[in-house]
Amino acid sequence: MNMHGYGALVTGGASGLGLATARRIVERGGCVVLADISAEQGAKAVAELGDAAQFVRADVTDEAEVTAALDAAGPLRFVVHCAGRGGDRVRILDKEGNPGPLDTFAEVVRINLIGTYNVLRLAAARLATNDVVDGDRGAIVLTASVAAFDGQIGQSSYSASKAGVHGLTLVAARDLASRQIRVNTIAPGIMDTPMLGRLRADIRDSLAAQVPHPKRLGDPDDFARLAIEMLENPYLNAQTIRLDGGIRMAPR
Ligand SMILES: NC(=O)c1ccc[n+]([C@@H]2O[C@H](COP(=O)([O-])OP(=O)(O)OC[C@H]3O[C@@H](n4cnc5c(N)ncnc54)[C@H](O)[C@@H]3O)[C@@H](O)[C@H]2O)c1
Repeated sequence: MNMHGYGALVTGGASGLGLATARRIVERGGCVVLADISAEQGAKAVAELGDAAQFVRADVTDEAEVTAALDAAGPLRFVVHCAGRGGDRVRILDKEGNPGPLDTFAEVVRINLIGTYNVLRLAAARLATNDVVDGDRGAIVLTASVAAFDGQIGQSSYSASKAGVHGLTLVAARDLASRQIRVNTIAPGIMDTPMLGRLRADIRDSLAAQVPHPKRLGDPDDFARLAIEMLENPYLNAQTIRLDGGIRMAPR
């Protein structure tokens, strides 16, 4: 289904992978609601994207706020859920052999996995009421990570949350098949977004050198291009696709 004239919700749309996806959607003639907790970044994003974009401050774990973002989206056909947070970088046992804290683990799972399910369920209820166009009532893209498969030491919470998103993909696609809604997931490798911007330049260079080909960090637009394909290609369903230049993360 071509996205010209249709509405899209992009969570985490004020920055990084979400913002790059919103740019592509607007370029293709779609309208986009950016749902994000950062009002400051959201205002900048809307200023850049123009009239086809609007910002709604929404925490993806909050039912009322996600509902308000969906209300703003008008004739919604497409959802790209990018909002998420990094991990807590906590070992299972500390140096003295004490168990790591439970609260930060729960918080990462809450934002990344429960937030994903919240957006999925609330958005699916809207998409299910659409007419069928080119076989679909709508399409949803979720965001996992290569950490779902190659979790590094210290990534227990993040890997578990993203593996949960991967696990959700097939069941959601099966569950929503009777509503003609497709669900796919992108598992990015190391992408050059503000989430990574906090790293020192030499660490970023060494990460880029570990990518088999091309030897660079992922560009947010690499993500956006795949997200658009997942939204528009009617036969692409129930897939998690790694977008990582072939990298397989080492244990640490
Ligand atoms: N950058 C990478 O290398 C990389 C790799 C693998 C997976 N990912 C995943 O990609 C997604 C996007 O990350 P990014 O790199 O674009 O990061 P980013 O920090 O540039 O963007 C994330 C956006 O999500 C928003 N956000 C955070 N928590 C939110 C919440 N509870 N409700 C609404 N919005 C919220 C932030 O305000 C921010 O604008 C995340 O799910 C991340 O885990 C990123």
